Amino acid sequence: MRVLIVMAMHAEAKPVVRELGLKPVETPPWAAPVPMRLWQGQVGANEVDLVVNGQDSETGLDLIGTQAATASTMLGCEAFTPDLVVSAGTCGGFAKRGGSIGKVYLATDRVWYHDRRVPIPGFDLMARGGYPVTDFPEIGRRLGLKPGVVSTGDSLDLSDEDSKRIESVGAHAKEMEAAAVAWVAGLFGARFTALKSVTDIVDGPHPPEEEFFENLNQATENLAAKLVGFINELGSTA
Ligand code: ADE
Repeated sequence: MRVLIVMAMHAEAKPVVRELGLKPVETPPWAAPVPMRLWQGQVGANEVDLVVNGQDSETGLDLIGTQAATASTMLGCEAFTPDLVVSAGTCGGFAKRGGSIGKVYLATDRVWYHDRRVPIPGFDLMARGGYPVTDFPEIGRRLGLKPGVVSTGDSLDLSDEDSKRIESVGAHAKEMEAAAVAWVAGLFGARFTALKSVTDIVDGPHPPEEEFFENLNQATENLAAKLVGFINELGSTA
C-alpha cells in the first residue's frame, strides 16, 4: 500500500529516515517557496512518502502545530493519494494512565482537539474534531505498542480548559498535529493512524519544555524502531 507519514520536527524525522532507509527528494512536486520537505522509499511491500513540515522563514525553526500539519498533509495527499496516513512524532504522556518516557502509543478510537472552544450548537462538535482512527490491534500487540487516545492542541503548556477536554476523552497522548492530519486524510478518503512517543509527563513535576529536549533522543529512537516495525507489518497483514 502507499503510506504517507507526516512529521513536524527534523530531529523527530531523522531516525525515521535512517531506519526506513528513505531518500531525500530535492525537488518535491509542490511549489518551491513551500517549506515542506519530502523523503521517499520502498519499505517491504509499501511505498512510503514522508513529508516533514520544514522551517519557518521568520525564525528558522521547525514548523510545529496544526497549521503546518494541515498544509503538509494536504500536499502529501494531493501528490501521492495514500491509502494510509500516519501522523508520527512525540507527545506528552500521563502518569495516571500509565505513561512513561519513551513509551510509544499507537492511536486508537478517535483523535480530538482540546483547545478549540465554540459554544454554539453544532460548531461545538465540529471544534472537538473526533476524527476516526483505523485500529491495528494485531500489529500493535505484536510490536508491543500501547493503544492510546490522542488529543491535539497548539500549545505545549496545559490550560485548565484544555485539561478538562483531555480528561473527558481519557487521552493518553497530548500532542500538536494528529487531529489536523486526520482531518485532511479524511477529506481524501485515506485511512488514518498515529504513532506518538512520550518525551514528557504532563501530570508530572517538571515543565514540558525542560523534559522535552532531555528525552527527545530516546523518544525519537523508540519511535523510529516502532515505525519501521509497523510499516513492515502493514505489508503482511493490513
Ligand atoms: N509534544 C511533546 N510533548 C508535548 C506536550 N506536553 N504537549 C504538546 N505537544 C507535545
